Amino acid sequence: MADRTPLIAGNWKMNNDHLEAISLVQQVAYRLEPEDYERSEVAVIPPFTALRSIQTLIEADKLPMALGAQNCHWEDAGAFTGEVSVGMLSQLNVTYVVCGHSERRALFGEDDATVNRKVRAVIDAGLVPIFCVGEPLEQREAGEAESVVDRQVRAGLEGVDDPASVVIAYEPVWAIGTGRTATSEDANAMCGYVRDIIADLAGDEAAETVRIQYGGSVKAGNAAELMGQPHIDGALVGGASLKADDFAVICRHHRG
Ligand code: 13P
Repeated sequence: MADRTPLIAGNWKMNNDHLEAISLVQQVAYRLEPEDYERSEVAVIPPFTALRSIQTLIEADKLPMALGAQNCHWEDAGAFTGEVSVGMLSQLNVTYVVCGHSERRALFGEDDATVNRKVRAVIDAGLVPIFCVGEPLEQREAGEAESVVDRQVRAGLEGVDDPASVVIAYEPVWAIGTGRTATSEDANAMCGYVRDIIADLAGDEAAETVRIQYGGSVKAGNAAELMGQPHIDGALVGGASLKADDFAVICRHHRG
Protein backbone atom coordinates (compact mmCIF):
# COMPACT_ATOMS: atom_id res chain seq x y z
CA MET A 1 0.00 0.00 0.00
CA ALA A 2 1.49 3.32 -1.05
CA ASP A 3 1.90 6.02 1.56
CA ARG A 4 -0.67 8.58 0.58
CA THR A 5 -0.54 11.07 3.42
CA PRO A 6 -3.80 13.03 3.23
CA LEU A 7 -3.47 16.63 2.10
CA ILE A 8 -5.90 18.94 3.87
CA ALA A 9 -5.81 22.22 1.99
CA GLY A 10 -7.81 25.34 2.76
CA ASN A 11 -8.74 27.20 -0.42
CA TRP A 12 -9.76 30.60 0.89
CA LYS A 13 -10.89 31.85 -2.52
CA MET A 14 -11.28 35.68 -2.58
CA ASN A 15 -11.40 36.08 1.21
CA ASN A 16 -9.07 37.63 3.80
CA ASP A 17 -6.70 40.54 3.35
CA HIS A 18 -3.12 39.94 4.45
CA LEU A 19 -3.76 40.94 8.07
CA GLU A 20 -6.80 38.70 8.40
CA ALA A 21 -4.79 35.97 6.74
CA ILE A 22 -2.03 36.16 9.34
CA SER A 23 -4.55 36.02 12.14
CA LEU A 24 -6.35 33.00 10.68
CA VAL A 25 -3.16 30.99 10.17
CA GLN A 26 -2.05 31.79 13.71
CA GLN A 27 -5.39 30.60 15.07
CA VAL A 28 -5.24 27.37 13.07
CA ALA A 29 -1.65 26.68 14.15
CA TYR A 30 -2.62 27.23 17.78
CA ARG A 31 -5.17 24.43 17.50
CA LEU A 32 -2.94 21.79 15.92
CA GLU A 33 -0.45 19.42 17.56
CA PRO A 34 2.65 17.85 15.99
CA GLU A 35 0.73 14.58 15.67
CA ASP A 36 -1.87 16.28 13.48
CA TYR A 37 0.81 17.39 11.04
CA GLU A 38 2.25 13.89 11.02
CA ARG A 39 -1.08 12.33 10.15
CA SER A 40 -1.98 14.88 7.46
CA GLU A 41 -0.20 17.47 5.44
CA VAL A 42 -1.82 20.84 6.07
CA ALA A 43 -1.81 23.61 3.47
CA VAL A 44 -3.33 27.07 3.27
CA ILE A 45 -4.15 28.67 -0.06
CA PRO A 46 -4.75 32.40 0.46
CA PRO A 47 -5.25 35.07 -2.20
CA PHE A 48 -2.06 36.32 -3.90
CA THR A 49 -1.90 39.45 -1.75
CA ALA A 50 -1.43 37.40 1.42
CA LEU A 51 1.16 34.93 0.13
CA ARG A 52 4.20 36.92 1.21
CA SER A 53 2.79 37.56 4.69
CA ILE A 54 1.93 33.91 5.22
CA GLN A 55 5.28 32.77 3.86
CA THR A 56 7.00 35.01 6.40
CA LEU A 57 4.79 33.75 9.23
CA ILE A 58 5.35 30.09 8.34
CA GLU A 59 9.11 30.59 8.23
CA ALA A 60 9.37 32.77 11.34
CA ASP A 61 7.24 30.47 13.51
CA LYS A 62 8.53 27.28 11.83
CA LEU A 63 4.97 26.13 11.17
CA PRO A 64 4.85 22.72 9.47
CA MET A 65 2.33 24.01 6.96
CA ALA A 66 2.55 24.26 3.21
CA LEU A 67 1.60 27.31 1.20
CA GLY A 68 -0.49 27.20 -1.95
CA ALA A 69 -1.66 29.66 -4.59
CA GLN A 70 -5.08 29.69 -6.22
CA ASN A 71 -4.03 30.26 -9.80
CA CYS A 72 -1.09 31.08 -12.09
CA HIS A 73 -0.22 31.90 -15.67
CA TRP A 74 1.69 29.37 -17.75
CA GLU A 75 4.22 31.80 -19.24
CA ASP A 76 7.37 32.79 -17.33
CA ALA A 77 6.96 36.54 -17.79
CA GLY A 78 5.68 39.11 -20.24
CA ALA A 79 2.79 41.30 -21.27
CA PHE A 80 0.00 39.52 -19.37
CA THR A 81 -1.58 42.26 -17.28
CA GLY A 82 -3.04 40.97 -14.07
CA GLU A 83 -1.37 37.58 -14.19
CA VAL A 84 1.19 35.93 -11.90
CA SER A 85 3.83 33.43 -13.07
CA VAL A 86 4.76 30.18 -11.39
CA GLY A 87 8.31 31.48 -10.97
CA MET A 88 6.99 34.36 -8.87
CA LEU A 89 5.08 31.90 -6.70
CA SER A 90 8.10 29.67 -6.36
CA GLN A 91 10.09 32.62 -4.98
CA LEU A 92 7.54 32.81 -2.16
CA ASN A 93 8.09 29.15 -1.26
CA VAL A 94 4.71 28.20 -2.61
CA THR A 95 4.40 24.40 -2.88
CA TYR A 96 0.95 23.93 -4.40
CA VAL A 97 -0.89 25.76 -7.18
CA VAL A 98 -4.59 25.16 -7.77
CA CYS A 99 -5.24 24.59 -11.49
CA GLY A 100 -8.64 24.43 -13.12
CA HIS A 101 -10.83 25.13 -10.11
CA SER A 102 -14.46 24.93 -11.24
CA GLU A 103 -14.96 28.62 -10.44
CA ARG A 104 -12.15 29.48 -12.87
CA ARG A 105 -13.63 27.16 -15.45
CA ALA A 106 -17.18 28.51 -15.05
CA LEU A 107 -16.57 32.20 -14.33
CA PHE A 108 -13.27 32.97 -16.06
CA GLY A 109 -13.48 30.88 -19.19
CA GLU A 110 -10.74 28.36 -18.45
CA ASP A 111 -11.03 25.32 -20.68
CA ASP A 112 -9.25 21.99 -20.58
CA ALA A 113 -6.41 23.28 -22.78
CA THR A 114 -5.79 26.29 -20.51
CA VAL A 115 -5.83 24.09 -17.45
CA ASN A 116 -3.37 21.70 -19.07
CA ARG A 117 -0.95 24.57 -19.81
CA LYS A 118 -1.10 25.62 -16.18
CA VAL A 119 -0.63 22.08 -14.86
CA ARG A 120 2.47 21.64 -17.02
CA ALA A 121 3.91 25.05 -16.12
CA VAL A 122 3.53 24.26 -12.41
CA ILE A 123 5.26 20.89 -12.80
CA ASP A 124 8.04 22.39 -14.93
CA ALA A 125 8.75 24.89 -12.16
CA GLY A 126 9.04 22.08 -9.60
CA LEU A 127 5.79 22.90 -7.82
CA VAL A 128 2.77 20.66 -7.38
CA PRO A 129 -0.53 21.31 -9.12
CA ILE A 130 -3.77 20.71 -7.27
CA PHE A 131 -5.60 19.87 -10.43
CA CYS A 132 -9.37 20.20 -10.02
CA VAL A 133 -12.00 18.20 -11.87
CA GLY A 134 -15.69 17.69 -11.28
CA GLU A 135 -19.04 17.66 -13.04
CA PRO A 136 -21.77 20.32 -12.93
CA LEU A 137 -25.23 19.35 -11.67
CA GLU A 138 -26.90 19.05 -15.09
CA GLN A 139 -24.28 16.60 -16.21
CA ARG A 140 -24.54 14.54 -13.04
CA GLU A 141 -28.30 14.39 -13.47
CA ALA A 142 -27.87 13.36 -17.08
CA GLY A 143 -25.68 10.46 -15.96
CA GLU A 144 -22.59 12.06 -17.47
CA ALA A 145 -20.50 12.60 -14.34
CA GLU A 146 -17.96 9.96 -15.25
CA SER A 147 -17.56 10.99 -18.87
CA VAL A 148 -17.05 14.65 -17.89
CA VAL A 149 -14.45 13.76 -15.30
CA ASP A 150 -12.77 11.33 -17.67
CA ARG A 151 -12.40 14.08 -20.29
CA GLN A 152 -11.15 16.62 -17.76
CA VAL A 153 -8.55 14.29 -16.25
CA ARG A 154 -7.14 13.10 -19.57
CA ALA A 155 -7.06 16.59 -21.10
CA GLY A 156 -5.59 18.24 -18.03
CA LEU A 157 -2.79 15.68 -17.79
CA GLU A 158 -1.89 15.58 -21.46
CA GLY A 159 1.87 15.69 -21.87
CA VAL A 160 2.46 15.12 -18.15
CA ASP A 161 5.11 12.40 -17.77
CA ASP A 162 4.32 11.50 -14.19
CA PRO A 163 0.64 11.98 -13.32
CA ALA A 164 1.40 10.71 -9.79
CA SER A 165 3.29 13.96 -9.13
CA VAL A 166 0.00 15.85 -9.39
CA VAL A 167 -2.59 16.14 -6.64
CA ILE A 168 -6.02 15.68 -8.17
CA ALA A 169 -9.04 17.24 -6.46
CA TYR A 170 -12.41 15.77 -7.33
CA GLU A 171 -14.85 18.59 -6.64
CA PRO A 172 -18.37 18.03 -7.97
CA VAL A 173 -19.62 21.51 -8.87
CA TRP A 174 -23.03 20.92 -7.29
CA ALA A 175 -21.39 20.31 -3.91
CA ILE A 176 -19.26 23.48 -3.84
CA GLY A 177 -20.51 26.12 -1.44
CA THR A 178 -23.97 24.57 -1.44
CA GLY A 179 -23.86 22.62 1.80
CA ARG A 180 -24.67 19.60 -0.34
CA THR A 181 -21.90 17.03 0.04
CA ALA A 182 -21.49 13.96 -2.08
CA THR A 183 -22.16 10.92 0.08
CA SER A 184 -18.94 9.35 1.23
CA GLU A 185 -19.73 6.35 -1.00
CA ASP A 186 -20.25 8.54 -4.07
CA ALA A 187 -17.18 10.65 -3.36
CA ASN A 188 -15.11 7.52 -2.85
CA ALA A 189 -16.46 5.95 -6.02
CA MET A 190 -15.60 9.01 -8.11
CA CYS A 191 -12.12 9.30 -6.59
CA GLY A 192 -11.68 5.58 -7.35
CA TYR A 193 -12.83 6.25 -10.88
CA VAL A 194 -10.17 8.97 -11.23
CA ARG A 195 -7.61 6.52 -9.85
CA ASP A 196 -8.58 4.04 -12.57
CA ILE A 197 -7.98 6.70 -15.22
CA ILE A 198 -4.49 7.26 -13.78
CA ALA A 199 -3.88 3.51 -13.94
CA ASP A 200 -4.89 3.59 -17.58
CA LEU A 201 -2.66 6.58 -18.31
CA ALA A 202 0.40 5.72 -16.28
CA GLY A 203 0.12 2.25 -14.76
CA ASP A 204 -0.85 0.69 -11.46
CA GLU A 205 2.03 2.12 -9.45
CA ALA A 206 1.12 5.68 -10.41
CA ALA A 207 -2.51 4.96 -9.53
CA GLU A 208 -1.47 3.59 -6.13
CA THR A 209 0.64 6.67 -5.41
CA VAL A 210 -1.39 9.58 -6.76
CA ARG A 211 -3.19 11.64 -4.13
CA ILE A 212 -6.83 12.33 -4.88
CA GLN A 213 -8.66 14.82 -2.70
CA TYR A 214 -12.37 15.33 -2.35
CA GLY A 215 -13.78 18.88 -2.23
CA GLY A 216 -17.29 20.27 -1.90
CA SER A 217 -18.86 21.26 1.42
CA VAL A 218 -16.30 19.42 3.52
CA LYS A 219 -17.08 20.40 7.10
CA ALA A 220 -16.01 19.59 10.62
CA GLY A 221 -18.97 17.20 10.85
CA ASN A 222 -18.30 15.12 7.74
CA ALA A 223 -14.51 15.21 7.36
CA ALA A 224 -13.72 12.06 9.35
CA GLU A 225 -16.14 9.96 7.37
CA LEU A 226 -14.97 11.29 4.02
CA MET A 227 -11.30 10.92 4.94
CA GLY A 228 -11.94 7.36 6.06
CA GLN A 229 -12.72 6.29 2.51
CA PRO A 230 -10.00 4.27 0.81
CA HIS A 231 -9.77 6.37 -2.35
CA ILE A 232 -9.96 9.79 -0.68
CA ASP A 233 -6.55 11.22 0.22
CA GLY A 234 -7.46 14.53 1.71
CA ALA A 235 -9.76 17.47 1.26
CA LEU A 236 -9.84 20.74 -0.62
CA VAL A 237 -11.84 22.87 1.77
CA GLY A 238 -13.51 26.17 0.88
CA GLY A 239 -15.93 27.80 3.32
CA ALA A 240 -14.94 25.76 6.37
CA SER A 241 -11.28 26.71 5.93
CA LEU A 242 -12.17 30.33 6.76
CA LYS A 243 -12.99 29.39 10.35
CA ALA A 244 -10.06 28.32 12.46
CA ASP A 245 -12.10 25.99 14.66
CA ASP A 246 -13.69 24.20 11.74
CA PHE A 247 -10.52 23.91 9.68
CA ALA A 248 -8.58 22.61 12.68
CA VAL A 249 -11.22 19.92 13.29
CA ILE A 250 -10.92 18.87 9.65
CA CYS A 251 -7.12 18.71 9.98
CA ARG A 252 -7.59 16.56 13.10
CA HIS A 253 -10.00 14.19 11.31
CA HIS A 254 -7.90 11.15 12.29
CA ARG A 255 -8.90 11.74 15.90
CA GLY A 256 -12.41 10.67 14.82
P1 13P B 1 -16.70 24.60 -0.19
O1 13P B 1 -15.92 23.78 0.83
O2 13P B 1 -17.03 25.97 0.31
O3 13P B 1 -17.87 23.84 -0.72
O4 13P B 1 -15.70 24.84 -1.42
C1 13P B 1 -15.05 23.77 -1.99
C2 13P B 1 -14.03 24.29 -2.92
O5 13P B 1 -14.35 24.84 -3.96
C3 13P B 1 -12.62 24.16 -2.54
O6 13P B 1 -11.80 24.43 -3.62
